[in-house]
Amino acid sequence: MTTKYIIKLINLHKAFGPKVISRDLNLSIVEGEFLAIIGRSGEGKSVLLKQMIGLIKPDSGTVIVDDTDLTTAKGHEAQDKVFQSCGYVFQFAALLDSLSVAENVGITLIEAGMTEKEVLPLVKDKLLSVGLDPAIASRYPSELSGGMKKRVGLARTLMRRPKILIYDEPTTGLDPISVRMIHELMRKTHDENKTTTVVISHDPDVFNYADRVAMLHEGRILYVGDAKTIWQEENPYIHQFIRGLSQGPITMISEKAK
Ligand SMILES: Nc1ncnc2c1ncn2[C@@H]1O[C@H](COP(=O)(O)OP(=O)(O)OP(=O)(O)O)[C@@H](O)[C@H]1O
Ligand SMILES: [Mg+2]
Repeated sequence: MTTKYIIKLINLHKAFGPKVISRDLNLSIVEGEFLAIIGRSGEGKSVLLKQMIGLIKPDSGTVIVDDTDLTTAKGHEAQDKVFQSCGYVFQFAALLDSLSVAENVGITLIEAGMTEKEVLPLVKDKLLSVGLDPAIASRYPSELSGGMKKRVGLARTLMRRPKILIYDEPTTGLDPISVRMIHELMRKTHDENKTTTVVISHDPDVFNYADRVAMLHEGRILYVGDAKTIWQEENPYIHQFIRGLSQGPITMISEKAK
């Protein structure tokens, strides 16, 4: 069976002023895989995801999502393709504070013309599927814990049934048990909906759920390997990063002037 790549990033280059964020970056994501992307703070992981979904345009290089080249697409073609194929779960959930949980989760259907009454049962089903009590539909984001907000953010993204799910640090700020529960939920969602999953994470627990791990370092994908054998990996960058060691090839300057 030939491998189908659902996302291909080819020779990406992106700079903000003099600061180079992506340099000759290449990454191919296999349809149906669960890929974790790791790398230090400020390395450009969020910028990489934003290039993947067309929110940030690379200065040069090619981004192919589900057979569409976003970098050469005309008019709304790139935006439409991303909207149709990709669901993006934002860092910190990004819920709208002035809207109820039901309105947050149902927002795309409400915007598409459905009434709140029509949307409510669908929202409640989705809340249940991410492990939340459907009764919270009438609550506001300020009344929820961090872990609940992240689940609501996921429920909102799942309403569109995307075939590619992209998460930017979905577990930051959660306790270890909640981290595990979110990872379990992400894997269950991945398996049940047969999606492709891409997640940026700092938490080694994600290796228990991912198929492959890619490491971003100094603007490039320095390593891609099997998540199951990551703790035996001899690559010195991986060895240092996943153990959080201060000694090794990765320098401790938090953000280099590139
Ligand atoms: N729109 C922008 N304009 C200018 N600089 C930007 C912009 N977006 C990101 N950057 C810069 O690009 C670099 C990479 O940012 P990015 O948010 O991708 O890092 P990250 O790896 O996701 O970090 P973290 O783990 O802290 O979330 C940072 O130095 C950031 O200041
Ligand atoms: Mg980030």
